[in-house]
Amino acid sequence: MTAAAHGTRVRGLDDLQVEGRRVLVRVDFNIPMEDSRIVNDRRIRASLPTIETLRRRGAKILLVTHLGRPRGTVVDNLRVAPVARRLGELIGEKVPVAADVVGPSAQKLVSSLRDGEVGMLENVRFEPGEEANDPAFAARMAALADAYVNDAFGTAHRAHASTEGVAHHLPSAAGLLMGRELEVLGGVLESPRRPLVAIIGGAKISSKIGVIRNLVSLVDELWIGGAMACTFYRALGEETGTSLVEEDQVPVAAGLLEQVRDSRCDLRLPVDLVVASAPAAGATTAVVAWKEIPADRTVVDVGPDTVALISKSCAAAGTVVWNGPLGIYEIEQFAQGTRAVARALAASDAVSVIGGGDLAAAVEAVGVGDRITHVSTGGGATLEFLEGRDLPGVAALRSPQR
Ligand code: 3PG
Repeated sequence: MTAAAHGTRVRGLDDLQVEGRRVLVRVDFNIPMEDSRIVNDRRIRASLPTIETLRRRGAKILLVTHLGRPRGTVVDNLRVAPVARRLGELIGEKVPVAADVVGPSAQKLVSSLRDGEVGMLENVRFEPGEEANDPAFAARMAALADAYVNDAFGTAHRAHASTEGVAHHLPSAAGLLMGRELEVLGGVLESPRRPLVAIIGGAKISSKIGVIRNLVSLVDELWIGGAMACTFYRALGEETGTSLVEEDQVPVAAGLLEQVRDSRCDLRLPVDLVVASAPAAGATTAVVAWKEIPADRTVVDVGPDTVALISKSCAAAGTVVWNGPLGIYEIEQFAQGTRAVARALAASDAVSVIGGGDLAAAVEAVGVGDRITHVSTGGGATLEFLEGRDLPGVAALRSPQR
């Protein structure tokens, strides 16, 4: 058995008989690509423990992933060949790819696999049945294998055929990456070492409102960063210059400020900010106090006093969970606040859990990835988990076994 999540344990690799069997493994190799070149292979590396364990145990491993959003049609530059090539380099063995997902090529591939070998199906989202979670398509996929392993935590919030439907057809279990994600993220929600500090950044409160609402009832301290902080300033009656503000969310921010008043949670906003003439590289910048944002300036990062305060919170914390950057991370000049907090978090003794591509990049940029307890591979999935939702891809692993 592996990690608890939402009260019940999901089955783990040890619960599954895989020796000499065809095992369909759903991975999330939806990785950033530029012109068929892999920008970051972190998600591939994160599933290596599962793949290597299954190889050692003599399974015939049939990997399935999506890449991008082709929406049920074949899109040539979203073929999985570059991903399979990279995996092959990492495991030291060529990974053959089927030309289709459940057609003759997939069947030929799976029947050619010997014990301990790895093959990969074509991009599962080339099939319209995938996102529709079509039972007939799920059954055809299941017919390729004798068992199913879901290691795609990053896609566990999608109820698709390869993440949910197929689990109802085969003996199934969570992979090691999935198990680790559930254990660490579940631990944050269910039994954190306190004080529990959350840092939520990003541009839009509308995309983080669910997680903020849930965390307010759980955490001791909640820091808000990124452009989202401006929506809170407006709720407090302050001006925010030309910064991004979701006008329709100002009442939502006001409601949250009200909600925290009666809770254990101390909601904290940046006390100083870096402002710029425009949210563009090379723009002139200045550091201002939060109540003094000039009318013609836009907030692009947190200021040094805020970095110092968040760092102090991290140093005193038992657990820190962090999602979303504190400034406009894509622009190097405005990534400094996020990177400084990443350094402080790595230097702390807190259990540290971060999620989202920008933060994974930040800890790598400052060379502290190995000092963070857990860098989640999920984006939307991590957020939905922290919102307290039961993810369909996880729930399916708890359903009665065939
Ligand atoms: C992700 O990158 O968050 C996952 O792979 C899910 O992708 P999706 O948002 O296209 O479903």
